[in-house]
Amino acid sequence: MERAKVLVTRRWPAAVERRLAERFDVTFNEADRPMDVAALRAALTEYDAVLPTVTDAMGSEVFDGLATPRCRLLANYGVGFSHIDVAAAQRLGIAVTNTPDVLSDCTADIAMTLLLMAARRAGEGERELRAGQWSGWRPTHLVGTKVTGKVLGIIGYGRIGREMARRAHHGFGMAITVYNRSPIAPDLLAQCGARQLPLAETLAGADFVSLHCPGGAENRHLIDASRLAQMKPGAYLINTARGEVVDEAALVASIRKGHLRGAGLDVFEGEPRVSPELLECPGLVLLPHLGSATTETREAMGHCAIDNLAVFLDGGDPPNRVA
Ligand code: DGY
Repeated sequence: MERAKVLVTRRWPAAVERRLAERFDVTFNEADRPMDVAALRAALTEYDAVLPTVTDAMGSEVFDGLATPRCRLLANYGVGFSHIDVAAAQRLGIAVTNTPDVLSDCTADIAMTLLLMAARRAGEGERELRAGQWSGWRPTHLVGTKVTGKVLGIIGYGRIGREMARRAHHGFGMAITVYNRSPIAPDLLAQCGARQLPLAETLAGADFVSLHCPGGAENRHLIDASRLAQMKPGAYLINTARGEVVDEAALVASIRKGHLRGAGLDVFEGEPRVSPELLECPGLVLLPHLGSATTETREAMGHCAIDNLAVFLDGGDPPNRVA
């Protein structure tokens, strides 16, 4: 039987590349660079399935005008899929899957890392020491903020938000408040002693706010100048969700005028470009989209995408279908 032709848009960990190659007629994007619109459009006509990731901007221009694409499935490598115009894909009869669950622990770990680094000024300290500028211990040197007993406001109580709450509450003694669009089951809140509040109250009462909502048009600049102004003076913002959720210029302005004390960002508007204003702003901890970047998780994401692909091509309903 002829094997299905699939395209993987970036290089994957070797173990999952091998598993893919055993079962499918697979092409990897050897250049391992983001594919442009023309290449992505061509892929939809040449392959039975495409396995894209966050760096593939699959807006409507990738889909519009394609009469009969060969591609039937976009098996995204990653949980977030706001880089794919899902409605445009659906109009062409192309299904979309993602890879939830397997990256929740590691993404929450990075959110907690950013929270601790921002609170304890760890980035500043490391830079100072490496620059040979550390003059020794003194009572007032790089004094940060204690996290134990503080309030963490979580925006979006999906799998990653809940893992963040668990770490912060049980590991670091933080009180948890949550904003979520839909009501949260009482037992899920009780696991971390969390309270669900409206957005404005969550922002106003939290010493730290961590974003765990999806990106895309509906949440673009959810945290804008007016939301930042609602946050508690001296608070910190943590973003491991998607860059577009935060108005970065407004964030920089808030920190520079002394309203927010700092922020930790793993994702950026227009990444991998990071604006000079962010790079120059004091009190910011910046990481290059490392949320899911562990060997275990990146392999698990690959297995999850392959499972979705295999079930779909066998005519079944893939476990992580989002459209
Ligand atoms: C995810 O899974 O959404 C990560 O951010 C990488 O895309």
